[in-house]
Parts: sequence; structure tokens; C-alpha cells
Amino acid sequence: MSENPLLVAVGEETQVSATAGIPQTLGAYPEEDGGSMPNLFDCLASTYHLQSILSGGLTERWRRQMVARLPLQAGQKVVDLMTGTGELWTLLLPQVGENGRVRAVDFSARMLAGAARHRDTLPNPERISLHAANACSSGLASATADVVVSAFGLKTLPTTDYPALAAEIMRLLAPGGTVALLELTVPARGWRRAFCLGYLRSCNYILRLLGGPILAHTHLLHFASEFSALDKVASACRAAGLRHVRIEQLTFGLASILLAERDEQYK
Ligand SMILES: C[S@@+](CC[C@H](N)C(=O)[O-])C[C@H]1O[C@@H](n2cnc3c(N)ncnc32)[C@H](O)[C@@H]1O
Repeated sequence: MSENPLLVAVGEETQVSATAGIPQTLGAYPEEDGGSMPNLFDCLASTYHLQSILSGGLTERWRRQMVARLPLQAGQKVVDLMTGTGELWTLLLPQVGENGRVRAVDFSARMLAGAARHRDTLPNPERISLHAANACSSGLASATADVVVSAFGLKTLPTTDYPALAAEIMRLLAPGGTVALLELTVPARGWRRAFCLGYLRSCNYILRLLGGPILAHTHLLHFASEFSALDKVASACRAAGLRHVRIEQLTFGLASILLAERDEQYK
């Protein structure tokens, strides 16, 4: 599904170095490359950490809240879809311990290079493997994940890909496994919607004033303000066979977590 020429073929383990396969210049998103999503994230990679500042620390708080809802245990295997530069890892690794494993999937070569640098700073980095792949067809082994997680990747995913993503989550999860997906959600109406859209517009304005590589964040803000389809992701998860699919709102509905399980008995 990915058309990114920077990616190497997907295998069970993809070796990603901090600089491998990265061109010196990247086309701007979306005008110069027709708007390919991996290229947007390649452009965002060097400044992606600023999302935490832009959100006033809320994105980190929401990641913590999602991980707190997972039944993680020592030694478990976690798949982190749309991992970015591994923003979830410092929350996941203490839970799964020295024998736990995180398999991290992303289709942006630059994000994965950032992830490789991040991994090098962590204790027992061999616990994390990086996989250059589309989250909807990761190529990872079936029924081996105790937990599948994903934070802030849904908003740029085409709605037509939701069934494929849900089927992939179902395929990756071991029987009895849990999935949690976190995304920004603009409330449908009322003062919370006005607040949220006003906040996103203010961020957009500041980013445009600052200019430079940080401008790529304006595209992400655009996707965030348009995203309202978590219930469609939930329907796709139910259709794929996941059970107990539910959505929990965080901070007045500014973000939401979708949680679901794969039945123990599911064949
Ligand atoms: C907004 S960032 C989120 C990163 C991180 N999970 C976090 O918590 O901040 C979205 C990431 O998902 C990746 N991504 C988006 N769609 C993807 C897809 N279909 N397959 C693989 N990676 C994808 C992007 O390359 C990017 O690194």
C-alpha cells in the first residue's frame, strides 16, 4: 500500500539505522509530491516532538491514560502501529519488563530513523524491533500480540482503509489480546467544539508565522480538525470480529480511546 520509495522491503525484522535511506532534500507536502502520506510524515519527523508543546502536554497525558487502561504484564508482546518516533515506548516498556517485546510499525522512513535514534537511548534496546510497513498490512506474524496499540495515527488514514486496519489488528492479536487506539477528536457541537477548533486555528496561525520545517504541522492540524470518524473505526473493528468495542472520551472529548478485545475462543 505504501508508495514511499524510501522504504525497504518489509520482513519480520527491518533493520533501520538513524540515517539509512534518507534523501538530502524532501519534497514539500502536499504540493510537490501529490500529497503522499509517508512524505508528509517524512517532512514532519524533525519537528514532530513539538506536538507535545503545541498540545500543552496533553498528548503525553492522553498516551499515559491509554496505556493505563491496558492489561499489560511482564513478558508480553506489544505491536505499536504508526509508532512515529516511539512516543509510546517509555510508557509500554516498564510494563512489559526485560522479557517483553515491542514491535513498532511505521511507513515513514524519517520517522523510523528518529525511532531508531530513540531506541538507542533506551535500556535493553533489543526489546524493540522496527518494521517499515503500512499499518494495514504489517507483515508481522499472526496471533502473536498480547496487545496492539496506536496513538494519533488514525486521523490521516483514509476511511476506506479502516476495514483493512481492523482486520490487521484482529490478525495480529493473540486470542484474549487487547487493542487500544488513541486519537484527537473534535467534539461534534457546543463550546467544546468551538474551543477545540479555535485552539487548532490559533496553533495554525502561530505555525505559519514561524514558517520553516514546522509548517508541516499545519497539515496535521488540518487532519485533526477534520477527523470525526472514531465510530466508523469502531464499526470496522466489530465487523472484523473484535469484541467489547467501546470508545472512552478524554478531557471533555478532545481525545478518545477505542478499546476492544479478541475473544479467547476466536479461531
Ligand atoms: C501523528 S504520528 C503519531 C506518532 C506516535 N504514535 C505518537 O504517539 O505520537 C502518526 C504516525 O503514523 C504513521 N502512519 C500514518 N499512517 C500510517 C500507515 N497507514 N501505516 C504506517 N504508518 C502510518 C506516520 O508515518 C507517523 O509516524
